[in-house]
Amino acid sequence: MKLVNILTILGGISTTYAMTVQELIKDMGVGWNLGNTLEACGDWINGSTVKQYETSWGNPETTEEMIKGIKSYGFKSIRVPVAWSNLIASDYTINPLLLARAKEIVNYIINNDMYAIMNIHWDNGWFENFATKEEESFTKYRRIWEQISDYFKDVNENLIFESLNEEGCWNTVWNRWSNQGDKSKAYGLLNEMNQNFVDIVRNSGGNNTERHLLLAGYCTDIDLTIDEAYVVPKDDRVMVSVHYYTPSTFTILEEDADWGKAQPTWGSESEVEYLLNDFKKIKTRFVDNGIPVVIGEYGTVTKNKDINSVHKFLKTVAETSLNSGMCPFLWDNGEHFNRKTLVFRDEAIGEIYKVML
Ligand SMILES: *[C@@H]1O[C@H](CO)[C@@H](O)[C@H](O)[C@H]1NC(C)=O
Ligand SMILES: *[C@@H]1O[C@H](CO)[C@@H](O)[C@H](O)[C@H]1NC(C)=O
Repeated sequence: MKLVNILTILGGISTTYAMTVQELIKDMGVGWNLGNTLEACGDWINGSTVKQYETSWGNPETTEEMIKGIKSYGFKSIRVPVAWSNLIASDYTINPLLLARAKEIVNYIINNDMYAIMNIHWDNGWFENFATKEEESFTKYRRIWEQISDYFKDVNENLIFESLNEEGCWNTVWNRWSNQGDKSKAYGLLNEMNQNFVDIVRNSGGNNTERHLLLAGYCTDIDLTIDEAYVVPKDDRVMVSVHYYTPSTFTILEEDADWGKAQPTWGSESEVEYLLNDFKKIKTRFVDNGIPVVIGEYGTVTKNKDINSVHKFLKTVAETSLNSGMCPFLWDNGEHFNRKTLVFRDEAIGEIYKVML
């Protein structure tokens, strides 16, 4: 065989993905969220440029140095939340400058041999409209994914698309607490969105025919996502996403609120047991059935919290995820990793990840 033919064959092989989704999840290691950045939005923002949005919630413009800084702490994956509606026309055409900026950030990540997850993130709340304006909402959802798929289809397999963030639940359609309403309609909306997402990406060609995809769980809540009403599209390269902020009285409440009493500490035997049981539930439903799980966000506020409890919570979530074959992504709105000095504000948190792999 002529050398040129061998090279052609090798070239052909290199464009098909070598990695299964199970191999991928192992290689993803531990992850970090580039939070409060490309998903920053608000009607008050003078949004004539991408930069005005990107910096509007107080973070500096993202640089490749920040990505290298995160990598130096042992992280191998970065989630990039994006609000696409910031720069979108009335016919849902996304401004090319926003697509280009998102690609630039994704390239910072994959050029450093890390994995990037990119999604549609909250996006100023329009996912609520699926409950009332279903058809129009699906049109918008499809148009956004058609454009992203097309624009990113030549990017290599280190880029993973995520169907949406945690907005896939509609309490006006089905109330999760009182169990009133039409449960199958509520789940049906999310199931259809995830199926639309998979179909659009796969049909767009290029590297998207085999790209690994992440599907949002119902509310990204463990109990609601293991419910049999949640359906995973049939596809060899999909993973499911849930978030972990339990107990919310510890992770979210800085002060007492009408719905709960702020809890300053975490880590008793029964609390750890509760966490392990949560992870076991999600592992049994998905991981053990060949569908890897990504903990797309977890974290805790630090104000009014016992610092040892904070460390223990972050470490326990990350370790339990890895032990269960899942990839954990620390939520960071700018409060953990200092994006100017490129070190963790609390070095003990950075150390948790440095020693993990
Ligand atoms: C919005 O930003 C643009 C570009 O920086 C600037 O020219 C314009 O004056 C700003 N508008 C307001 C109302 O501040
Ligand atoms: C897939 O990605 C690789 C690496 O970026 C690129 O060289 C190749 O052209 C892409 N293939 C397709 C079909 O887009």
